Amino acid sequence: VSLKPYNTFGIDVNAYQFISIESEEELIEILRRFYASELFVLGGGSNMLLTQDINKTVLHINLKGIEIVEEDDHHVLLKANAGENWHDFVLYCLEKGYGGLENLSLIPGNVGTSPIQNIGAYGVELKDTMSYCETINRQTLNKKRFYTKDCRFGYRDSVFKTKFKNQYIITSVVFKLTKKDHILHIDYGSIQNELESKKISSPTIQDVSRAIIAIRQSKLPDPNQIGNSGSFFKNPIVAFSILENIQKSFPDVPFYKIDESSVKIPAGWLIEKTGLKGYRKGDAGVHSKQALVLVNHGNASGKEVHELSEHVKKEVEKKFKIKLETEVNIF
Ligand code: EPU
Repeated sequence: VSLKPYNTFGIDVNAYQFISIESEEELIEILRRFYASELFVLGGGSNMLLTQDINKTVLHINLKGIEIVEEDDHHVLLKANAGENWHDFVLYCLEKGYGGLENLSLIPGNVGTSPIQNIGAYGVELKDTMSYCETINRQTLNKKRFYTKDCRFGYRDSVFKTKFKNQYIITSVVFKLTKKDHILHIDYGSIQNELESKKISSPTIQDVSRAIIAIRQSKLPDPNQIGNSGSFFKNPIVAFSILENIQKSFPDVPFYKIDESSVKIPAGWLIEKTGLKGYRKGDAGVHSKQALVLVNHGNASGKEVHELSEHVKKEVEKKFKIKLETEVNIF
């Protein structure tokens, strides 16, 4: 079975077998039937680079459905099953007038994988609105609820990437959203500019979503047209002294203060300064409008994209003495 339609990088590798489950009963049945080591769990396929055939049974989590768990005049607890497409879910919330997820518009992938790396964009992260997620333990088949505090969310990080890696399957995520008095996050530089350019002075949650969609579309490639997994690297967090060193040659280097001694520097900026923005080798490339994103221009293999990523890392390290970490999972 070709996995090309199931990974947003559009990499054409084969899986030994492919099973899509649509209910929790089916999921438990499959988990019972196979050893954990025989299964490769697949959600939206938006944060992975496949570099070789998968010699396992691919388990596609296709649980659908959205429902209200609880609500009052101000808030709603809304549950989305893991297989719901993330952006469609955000649009659903906006249509119902539920606020909280608008800054996370147009992020590729599914609801069920969003907690794993605590997806985030434009000043908002998943952890800001998630209440809890429901999971199934792959070994014991027991259900377990993880509240936000249990997930140890960090920048693109959670227990599902560290301590409990590959141990639980997230079946649904529950969000606490606002029904009125929405709290808008529009400080992230380009949002203000985008709203001003549309002459919007008191934006609604729908306006914020539209602004973010416009910003993303202006620099991030649409995976349906050009294969990619969004940011390929994390923005590195470095000591203040490293920043000062860079400032000697580049006084206008962008950065965000993390604490008294460390700062986050945009990896896209570092890559651009190595001259690799828009670079292409075969069909593997560095996106021309956002250097943080690696792209598959058509028929790149996972290996070629991986080699390109190693090249990018090497060039950034040579120039800035900073080791980039990949955000995307490489298989
Ligand atoms: N920059 C460059 N050149 C580039 C790209 C960026 O100079 O090629 C500079 C920009 O000028 C700007 C700064 O870097 O000063 C930040 O750029 P941007 O706002 O585009 O955000 P980012 O730090 O590159 C992060 C996330 C994105 C998220 C945006 C907006 C990570 C790894 N990436 O990118 O997330 O959409 O902020 O919040 O944290 C993703 O995870 O897939 C993703 C796209």
